[in-house]
Amino acid sequence: MKKDFLDLADAGAPALRAMLAEARRRKQARAGWTKGRADADAPLVGHTLAMIFEKNSTRTRVSFDMAMRQLGGTTIVMDAGSMQLGRGESIADTARVLSRYVDAIMIRTDDHAKVEELAAHATVPVINGLTDRSHPCQIMADLLTVIERKGAVEGTRWAWLGDGNNVLASIIEAGSLLGFEVAAACPEGYDPDPAIVAAARARAGNHPPLLTRDPGEAVRGADVVVTDTWISMGQAHAEAKLAAMTPYRVDEALMARADAGGLFLHCLPAHRGEEVTDAVIDGPRSAIWDEAENRLHAQKAVLLWCLGKLG
Ligand code: CP
Ligand code: NVA
Repeated sequence: MKKDFLDLADAGAPALRAMLAEARRRKQARAGWTKGRADADAPLVGHTLAMIFEKNSTRTRVSFDMAMRQLGGTTIVMDAGSMQLGRGESIADTARVLSRYVDAIMIRTDDHAKVEELAAHATVPVINGLTDRSHPCQIMADLLTVIERKGAVEGTRWAWLGDGNNVLASIIEAGSLLGFEVAAACPEGYDPDPAIVAAARARAGNHPPLLTRDPGEAVRGADVVVTDTWISMGQAHAEAKLAAMTPYRVDEALMARADAGGLFLHCLPAHRGEEVTDAVIDGPRSAIWDEAENRLHAQKAVLLWCLGKLG
């Protein structure tokens, strides 16, 4: 059975823990090296990853490309609009063809069903590089960052502020799989996907996700405070939404209600002055640059797991 990485639950908790340990080990082993140098064992020599982008990207595009280089492999990066996919070739046929050329496929798209269809028809592993529903690769980097700073994710408390979006969905899933609390404060009308919440509630023994309208309740005693853009890719700019989100802006007063050692995370790109103030995102509790770097290290482990090189 090929291993796809469409959502964190596909892998399950033991595999996620193994990936996070591998990511840490590889990161430490190459400390101080030039970024383009391959890891000593170059485990993906002879392997190529194809990447399909239907939406913009800086971090996902560059970190996957460098991840493959560091593992000894190569990449092909394609914008969906310049592929035949962009003029109507089916996802299923694209999957069948690419599977004859490359060893794995990463896709960033809008409708999650497209990723599922690609995976269903590809004979090589498929990785979700963000859909409207979820962003599992981002949360692998977030988990790695929290493990580095706090020693473990188990038993921590995470607060989410703002839009109930794709990034929050993967955090909720991670909390229920790995045993940490997630308290999400979102305004009415912008709650997280009920199916994701229900699945997490069914999974989480003592830590079901908490949904609240009160930012202060969510951040109280939090070890990790997370937010994201109020308008995600593909969404129309809407003044009504921005107005509803304003009380959920992460500023110093809100951070003061988190645990004294509480970290600030943001997947980036940030809209400074909207979902977060400069004082917080540039402040001493912000871990955003480590978080961005960790996309690279976490995805190396995801690639190794997908390609059967890890457990
Ligand atoms: N965080 C993230 O996925 O960034 P990009 O959109 O730049 O890939
Ligand atoms: N929620 C954001 C994340 C960007 C990395 C979006 O989907 O645009």
